[in-house]
Amino acid sequence: MIDDREKTPRVMIAGTGAYLPERILTNAELETMVDTSDEWIVTRTGVRERRIARPDEATSDMAIPAAKQALEDAGVSAADLDLIIVGTVTPDMIFPNTACLVQSAIGATKALCFDLSAACSGFLYSMETARGLLLSGLYETALVIGADKMSAVTDWEDRGTCILFGDGAGAVVLKKTFTHRGIMATSFGADGSLGDLLMIPGGGSRCPASHESVEQRQHVVKMAGNNVFKHAVRCMTEAGREALEKAGLTIADVDWVIPHQANMRIVQAISDRVGIPMERFIVNLDRLGNTTAATVPLALDEGVRDGRIKRGDVLLSIVFGGGFTWGATVLEY
Ligand code: UT7
Repeated sequence: MIDDREKTPRVMIAGTGAYLPERILTNAELETMVDTSDEWIVTRTGVRERRIARPDEATSDMAIPAAKQALEDAGVSAADLDLIIVGTVTPDMIFPNTACLVQSAIGATKALCFDLSAACSGFLYSMETARGLLLSGLYETALVIGADKMSAVTDWEDRGTCILFGDGAGAVVLKKTFTHRGIMATSFGADGSLGDLLMIPGGGSRCPASHESVEQRQHVVKMAGNNVFKHAVRCMTEAGREALEKAGLTIADVDWVIPHQANMRIVQAISDRVGIPMERFIVNLDRLGNTTAATVPLALDEGVRDGRIKRGDVLLSIVFGGGFTWGATVLEY
């Protein structure tokens, strides 16, 4: 007799990878650039330093080494990839998409390639999209990357935002499985009516690049920080709870929480509200700042490589970003 469970496919993380630019920008250096202080940045955000890509280092240049490392970790050849999705809001250019640039660099000749724009939720949104495509039966193996070069779109004269962001890339290889719990449940949402609280208005068809648009600083991040903060805490808490409930799990079942890393006070508020102690959160915000779509895969890769996250552990990842977009994923690593 065939066991029913063996007929139900799931999607699991087969390998992880990461890439960080070398240059470290400290709070002390920011003190020389805008009217701020290390003390303010640390107490209000938790960020101490962040990585900044070289001027000639674009988002794909960070995504490619992260992708190669994830493929190696998964023992998967690039030629076997069916799908590449890059979550990013800082593509190398409007088109070709970043996923195509990665495809060509790694030799993933048969992969379908596209970018997904969901700001800080970009990686989990991409993973959810890949999961759906793998479960559709059309594809077997996917590469999902979260990569952003936020330094290219940061307003270095705005002390309310420039202290937050950093650059980096993280990647996972996803495979279909019949023997592993993999991704158990998810909860995703969006609210476009609040989009103007966090945006880059210029560079698209609404406000194409012009001398005026550059003079008006339309090509950099605009954020109503305080307002975003409140929505982030509410949406992330609700999504986290709902995903756990759908998975039939409680907070006691969660080994590690991998939150989007925007502000330590947001992470702390989620820990308090969801009821999972901070010791079970993987946090790298102090060293990397907010790397937008890369925060979750970077923290995941770090936890896996330093031995905290082990095969069989239950992970809860929760994100929130511009759009607004948000989501949570519960999975067995
Ligand atoms: O990743 C996607 C989602 N993004 C987020 O989740 C970000 C969410 N927001 C935040 O992390 C916080 O709102 C910020 C860190 C951006 C700002 O912290 P805040 O506690 O909300 O500060 P605030 O904007 O309410 O500003 C408080 C004061 C203001 O001065 P006044 O008006 O009270 O005199 C600001 O001008 O702090 C001032 N301020 C600063 N002072 C020193 C703002 N930025 C700085 C700074 N250094 N860098």
